[in-house]
Amino acid sequence: MVPHTRFTNMPFPINRPRRLRKNENIRRLVRETRLSIDDFIYPLFVKFGKGVKEEIPSMPGNYRYSVDMVVDEVKEARSLGIPAIILFGIPEKKDEVGSEAYNPKGVVQEAVRAIKKDVPDILVITDVCIDEYTSHGHCGLVKGNEIVNDATLHILSKMALTHVKAGADMVAPSDMMDGRVRVIREILDKNGYTDIPIMSYAAKYASAFYGPFRDAADSTPKFGDRKSYQMDPSNSDEAIREIELDIEEGADIIMVKPALPYLDIIYRVKQEFDVPIAAYNVSGEFSMIKAASEKGWIDGEKGMIEALISIKRAGADMILTYFAIEVARFLKHGL
Ligand code: PBG
Repeated sequence: MVPHTRFTNMPFPINRPRRLRKNENIRRLVRETRLSIDDFIYPLFVKFGKGVKEEIPSMPGNYRYSVDMVVDEVKEARSLGIPAIILFGIPEKKDEVGSEAYNPKGVVQEAVRAIKKDVPDILVITDVCIDEYTSHGHCGLVKGNEIVNDATLHILSKMALTHVKAGADMVAPSDMMDGRVRVIREILDKNGYTDIPIMSYAAKYASAFYGPFRDAADSTPKFGDRKSYQMDPSNSDEAIREIELDIEEGADIIMVKPALPYLDIIYRVKQEFDVPIAAYNVSGEFSMIKAASEKGWIDGEKGMIEALISIKRAGADMILTYFAIEVARFLKHGL
C-alpha cells in the first residue's frame, strides 16, 4: 500500500483528485470495487400448499412460494446468471420441537428435490434452523423459559441431513447454538457427504433488522427474545471468537449478519481470516430502502447499488440479498 504522505507532499494545485472523477470513463478505470452477478445468493421462502405465490407485504417484490411455484422463480434467477439460492421453509404445522424441520418430505426438502430436478445447475443452499418450525418461534428447544443448547444439536443435525439427502449442495446453520457446525459436519461425514460444504452464520447479531423476515416466515418468538443465543450488537471481539470456533468445527464459509450496520465486523473479519466471507443483507436493510424509495425519499436503485457495494468494499466475498434479481437485471444492462 502506498503511504499517503506521497499525496500530502504534493498539495493543491499540483494534486487535484477531481481529475480522476471527471467523467464516467475515467471513473470506470479507477473504480476499486465492482459488483458482479457472481456475488449473489438469492433467499427464497417456500410454503406448504399448491399454486401459492403471495407477496410478503413488508418485503415488496418478494413472495412466499409453494414448491410447484418456486421452480419458476429459480429458473428466472438462473437465467439471469445468479449462482445460488438459499431456501427457508414455512411448514403447515408447527410444534414444540419443530418436527417438520427434519421431515424428509417437508417443504424445504421437497423444494430442493423439485429445484434440483428442473434447474440442476444452480447451487441450492438450505437454511438450517428450527425457528420457522417451532410453535414458540425460538431457534432452539425450550425448557421453561430457557433455550437449551445441546438437546437442540441433534435436531439441527437431523434437519441438515434431510436437506442434503434431498439434494442440497450446501447447508447454512443460522441458529447460533454452540457446537452445531461440529455435529452437522459429523453427521454429514458419517453418511458419506464429506464433500458438502457448510456455510455457518458465525457472527449473527440479535438485530431489529430481521423484522420483515419474521413477518414473512411467521417466526417471531412467542416469548422473550433471541439475546441468549444471537450476539450483542455492541461486540466485535466476540465475533472473532465465534468465527474462530466455527472454522475449527469445520465451517467452509463464514457469515456476518446483518451486513450494513456491521460493515466494521465484515472488514475486521476479512483482515483476520482467510476463509470466504458471506454477508447477509437482511430483510430490514432491504425493506428500508424499498420503503424510502416508495415514499420518494431516496432513489431506490441507487440506494440498492450503494448499499451492496459498501458490503463488498468492506470485504464480503458473497452477499445474500433480496435484491438479487433486481441487481442482476441492473448489472445485465451495465453498471
Ligand atoms: C433464523 C433466521 C432469521 C433470518 C435468517 N435466518 C431470523 C431470525 O434470526 O430471527 C433473518 C434474515 C433476514 O432478516 O433477512 N432462521
